[in-house]
Amino acid sequence: MNNDLNWRYATKKFDSSKKISKKDFAELLEVLRFSPSSYGLQPWKFVIVHDPVLRKKLRPHAWGQPQVTDADSLIVFCALKTMDDDYVNRYVDLIAQVRGVTKESLLSYEQMMMASLKDKSPEAVSQWMKNQVYIALGIFLSECAHRKIDACPMEGFDPHKFDEILKLPQEGLESVVLCAIGYRALDDNYAQQKKVRFDKNKVFIDRS
Ligand SMILES: Cc1cc2nc3c(=O)[nH]c(=O)nc-3n(C[C@H](O)[C@H](O)[C@H](O)COP(=O)(O)O)c2cc1C
Repeated sequence: MNNDLNWRYATKKFDSSKKISKKDFAELLEVLRFSPSSYGLQPWKFVIVHDPVLRKKLRPHAWGQPQVTDADSLIVFCALKTMDDDYVNRYVDLIAQVRGVTKESLLSYEQMMMASLKDKSPEAVSQWMKNQVYIALGIFLSECAHRKIDACPMEGFDPHKFDEILKLPQEGLESVVLCAIGYRALDDNYAQQKKVRFDKNKVFIDRS
């Protein structure tokens, strides 16, 4: 059993006096930046909320969950609201620049990405972008556990209210999922609870 994954749990009670070091925090942000996404299009932004006043304002819109105010940091995982050809074009520019190749050599890749977006309804594109955000969340949770930093992923919030308070539409963004990170309070009873996971024979199908 992977010890990190057994150690971690969705932390309900954080010790607000314990702070994540600047180095850990910066490296965790890099984990988000380096997360994989379909075609590498990275249709996301991650909004960091440290301000206690703002977090107090957000908490009632997240079922009053104390993690919103008590964890060291709150990260709002956001997806882009739309993605157009211009965005894809700028991404291809970046590939050309970083890899030192011509844009012409990337033309068929660019056209494939654009065609794949056009094939989908706006709702399907939006859902696809949100799916990418969850990949970043999974990787982030693993890395937090690896560093013995506690985390609570949270879907229990009102995205419209969060969007409004954090002025996300103005940035072309919508909130998808939250993650509070910090250090567990020693009296958080949830830390002692056994993991509840389906048996291997319920989870895997071997067709080999
Ligand atoms: C996408 C997602 C959303 C979640 N939302 C909440 C939440 O709003 N509040 C909460 O306390 N836990 C939340 N959880 C935690 C789950 O309830 C928890 O991961 C699950 O019960 C398994 O327990 P464990 O993570 O402690 O092993 C969420 C987990 C995920 C992955």
